[in-house]
Order: sequence, then structure tokens, then C-alpha cells
Amino acid sequence: MRHALDTQSPVCVIGAGIMGAGIAQVAAQAGHPVQLHDARDGAALAALRRLATGLDALVAKGRLSAEAAQATLARITPATSIDAAAGARLVVEAIVEQAEAKRTLFAQLEAIVDADCVLASNTSSISITALARDLRHPGRCVGLHFFNPVPVMKLVEVVSGLRTEPSVAQAVFALSERWRKTPVHARSTPGFIVNRIARPYYAETLALLQERAAEPAVLDACLRGAGFRMGPCELMDLIGHDTNFAVTASVHDANFGDRRYGPSLVQRELVDGGLLGRKSGRGFYDHAERAAPDPA
Ligand code: NAI
Repeated sequence: MRHALDTQSPVCVIGAGIMGAGIAQVAAQAGHPVQLHDARDGAALAALRRLATGLDALVAKGRLSAEAAQATLARITPATSIDAAAGARLVVEAIVEQAEAKRTLFAQLEAIVDADCVLASNTSSISITALARDLRHPGRCVGLHFFNPVPVMKLVEVVSGLRTEPSVAQAVFALSERWRKTPVHARSTPGFIVNRIARPYYAETLALLQERAAEPAVLDACLRGAGFRMGPCELMDLIGHDTNFAVTASVHDANFGDRRYGPSLVQRELVDGGLLGRKSGRGFYDHAERAAPDPA
């Protein structure tokens, strides 16, 4: 089966949250016509408005021409129905970090897209082998794991499950290079590469907070002082505590409950209280004044 992808290939992004919006922007900047769909009413349109605000800021700083910003936005169509995926050569899902939700979505997509359309998941931790399990064409399923913020971060993990066709992994690897990313190949293991290494980093931070060793701002200042670009608490606020908690639970579960990857009470409190980080305006820090207003 032919899986070659070029920068004219229609792309569909499902999930217009933090990651999906960024993926849509990067694909559109590379020239793809992009359909952006979210199950929540108005979310895709709101994401497009946030992107417009971000691109305007780049134009104001002289880092992007007004024409390029306009052309990028014009290539993204907010879609109310998943049927917008029909005709796509590549679908990238960036919905909630839950295996069952992603599997259901892929099953729905297989009824809509062509047999050679690549189904990519931006999952941070879930087994690509497991996501492909019920597909009629499991070889088309691949992990395409971007980092936050997508337009800024160069790294992309291209993740192959047991049944991912090598031509599919190669096609998305080559495409992400054309998107000016720096891809790496990874086999599907719990958390892949970066999230596997990062889990104990978050876990130790959360353990220190639970022990009341220091305030988040102190921990962040220490790690920034040690050379990290962001401290662990501000990074978790950026990621979103709901997503980070789901990733922890997924990696913990996939490692048969290994204590090193255990979830934290501190984090569950934040999630239960809706203190999700930047996206909800508050997490470890109060972002209300810094968060861009939701134009929806
Ligand atoms: P988010 O919570 O910002 O956005 C998720 C979006 O998906 C929401 O707008 C929600 O309405 C939508 N959605 C949920 N179920 C849906 C469905 N069945 N169909 C269509 N839309 C649906 O989440 P975020 O942070 O963008 O994460 C998305 C994915 O990307 C997750 O798998 C996460 O693990 C992964 N990821 C997240 C990173 C981060 O730093 N937040 C980094 C790298 C990967």
C-alpha cells in the first residue's frame, strides 16, 4: 500500500485542545489543507481564534509575514463532524489520553477514510500496538508524538507498534522533517522515550510537594537554576494536570504497577478540583491574568 505523504496531502486533526491546535497550525504552515475537528461544540472554532491571536503576535514581532499568517489560517477549516476526515491522507488524533476513547475514534475513522490513509496518534503514553488492535488495517496506525508547544518544540517521536508498517513510520518521519521538526524513531513502550524518562522527574517533584519540602516556586527556581528551561511545576501547569495524571496512570499501569511510576495524591487533588494548569487558569500557579481569554 502507498503511504507517501507530501505537503499538499489533506490532513485531518481530531481534538482541538492544546496539542491539536498546535498540530493543525504546523501542518497548515507546511502547506497542507487541514480539517480541525473537536467533539465539543465550538472548540475547533475557538482553537482557530486562539491560533489567529498567536499568529498576529508573531506578525507584530516581525517573525512572520502577515501574508504567511493569513495563508496558514486560510488552510485550516474547523469541522463540526468527524466526516471531515473523508479524503484525508493523514489523520492525527489529539483527543483525551484514554485508550478506549482513542480506539473508538480510530474505529469510527476507518469507516470514513480510505484504506491507505495513515492514522496517527499524538498519545504521550498509550501503546500503539493496543490502539491498532481492532483496526482492519492495523499497519497504518503509528504514534506521532509532538511536544508542547507544538509550533516551538522541534522533537517528534515517531512510534511504531508491533504491526505498524515500516513504510508508514517512514512516511510520517519524512513528513515531520518537512514540517521542520526533528523526528526520532521509537518502539512502542510505556511512555515511549521522553515520557518514560520524565515520569520519575514529575513523581519526585510531587513527592517533595506532598512532604511539604518546599513551595512550587522554590522547586521551579532550583531546577531552572540547575539549567532546565522550565521548572517541573510550571511545566506540569503547561502540560495540563488532567493529561499529565492520565499519562502517569497509563505508564504506571503498563509497568504492572511499578512504584517508580506511581501517581500522586497532590496531582489527583488538582485534577479533582479542576485546577488543571494554564488551560483552566489555575494549577500550581494562578494563570488568570496571563491566560489568553477564550474567544468562544
Ligand atoms: P486537551 O484537553 O487540551 O484537548 C483535548 C481535546 O480533545 C478537547 O478539546 C476535547 O474536547 C477533545 N476530545 C475529547 N474526546 C474527543 C473525541 N472523541 N473526539 C473529538 N474530540 C475529542 O488535551 P491535550 O493536552 O491537547 O492532549 C491531547 C493528546 O495529546 C493526549 O493524548 C495527550 O497525552 C497528548 N499530549 C499532550 C501534551 C501536553 O503537553 N498537553 C504533550 C504531548 C502529547
